[in-house]
Amino acid sequence: MNHAAWKRKDLVGLKDLSADEIRLMLSTAKSLQEISLRPVKKVPTLRGRTVANLFFEPSTRTRISFELAEKRLSADTINFTGSVSSTVKGETLKDTVRNIESLKVEIIVIRHPASGAPHALAESLPVSVVNAGDGINEHPTQALLDMFTIQEKKGTLANIKVAFIGDILHSRVARSNIWGLTKMGAKVVVCGPKTLLPPKVESLGVSATTDLGTAIKDADVINLLRIQTERQSECFFPSIREYANSYQINREVLQHAKPDVLIMHPGPVNRGIELASDVMDGPYSVILDQVTNGLAVRMAVLYLLSGARKKAAEK
Ligand code: CP
Repeated sequence: MNHAAWKRKDLVGLKDLSADEIRLMLSTAKSLQEISLRPVKKVPTLRGRTVANLFFEPSTRTRISFELAEKRLSADTINFTGSVSSTVKGETLKDTVRNIESLKVEIIVIRHPASGAPHALAESLPVSVVNAGDGINEHPTQALLDMFTIQEKKGTLANIKVAFIGDILHSRVARSNIWGLTKMGAKVVVCGPKTLLPPKVESLGVSATTDLGTAIKDADVINLLRIQTERQSECFFPSIREYANSYQINREVLQHAKPDVLIMHPGPVNRGIELASDVMDGPYSVILDQVTNGLAVRMAVLYLLSGARKKAAEK
């Protein structure tokens, strides 16, 4: 599949993407990766284009990485924080975006606490929408960078066993990874307290267990998820200490994992809860490689969406 084959105006999730489209994203990211290694880390690909970053939730990695990706591609950028915008005075999200669009912004990158917010904008407005995380639904660029990192370290995604440990129920990262990894032929197991496993999660093509030992046995990758207290309105387990006793990845637990296992985490990490500090900083951890790879992946997303807009305008 060549770059011209990308037809979508938006990237709202991996649920609707084909395996070929995911492959195209990953191969485009691979080809853009070397730009960040050049002495002058900039290409003119998006010169004259404008991208707005709309963040209605906190973010470190995603926000910085999108902004840097835009700069690497020479786009003009606008940064917009929900808490200081006129949405707090009652303006609707759609009206806010229509105002931004009227300034000839071509792509918006949006993080929003409401599941489906990017999809609603993408369906009703001409601007291209990139989902930077919507509620508990999807975080497609995180899953793409996770897949990119696994492919980089293991050479393939096919038949790779990836274990997700933690708060699966509230995790948009887990959902996007499940959609993406299963399409790419990986084997996915999800693990956590029963209360944090979505009902009927096996219908998504994954296996589920409450037992950490079962989940990490033969796993090529262990991807840890933070307990998302900001999305929880009730107690899902008795205490953080009890959670850590059963589900923390530490040196003792790793003795039962494969010798070449990768430890991944989308961040932010709660050190000493889901992941022991020495393992986070140890040789199995590829957490900072994930962050590095996120830049190339977000450059690929912007590049392909911008190309599709250009083709549509030429028709
Ligand atoms: N992984 C991730 O989305 O991190 P941020 O919340 O810091 O963007």
